[in-house]
Amino acid sequence: MAKTEWAYTDLVREHFTNPRNILDDEEAFNPDGRGMVGNPQCGDEMLMVIKVDKVKNIISECRWKTYGCASAIASTSMLSEVVTGMKLEEAFKITPKDIVKKLGGLPDRKIHCSVLGDKALRAAINDYYKKNGMLDKIREENRTLICQCMTIYDSEIEDAVLEGARTFIELQEKTKISTVCGQCRDRADELMLKYIEKHFAR
Ligand code: FES
Repeated sequence: MAKTEWAYTDLVREHFTNPRNILDDEEAFNPDGRGMVGNPQCGDEMLMVIKVDKVKNIISECRWKTYGCASAIASTSMLSEVVTGMKLEEAFKITPKDIVKKLGGLPDRKIHCSVLGDKALRAAINDYYKKNGMLDKIREENRTLICQCMTIYDSEIEDAVLEGARTFIELQEKTKISTVCGQCRDRADELMLKYIEKHFAR
């Protein structure tokens, strides 16, 4: 039988087979901030919890668990190491691209799996701000409505790109954007190209 080629870097494999900072017992961990994202019905749920050093304003501990795939596990494992000891404001700005770079790359079709961890982290940081009355620091996920007819936001265009859309037809197949009046087409096309550049430019 032909040997199956491992499509991931050694570092991805290492983090997948030996993930860091897995959450065993949330109650015992007693987090300062908690973020849960994803959809359990799609099998890609992610929980991230953090402890905060309130004097230094840094993440002192980060734990997580997921029902995601190998790429989601490796990315979140790496993310949890990177953000430990980091100031909250800096951790909030970490992007999937930063993590993929640290892992030495991921196959293009798996990039979207790395998005869950950083979304969950931002939710956990916002939760910490909320619980501590620091409401002015909360940054909601920015979403702009692009297609009025089909109620599609820019974040959905970004998700479609992360899931492999590279042409307008593919974007339409995934989101149904611009399938009514068509007025949003130019803006949607422009955003698709921007997100391809953002996530996949080498
Ligand atoms: S605004 Fe997108 S189809 Fe009408």
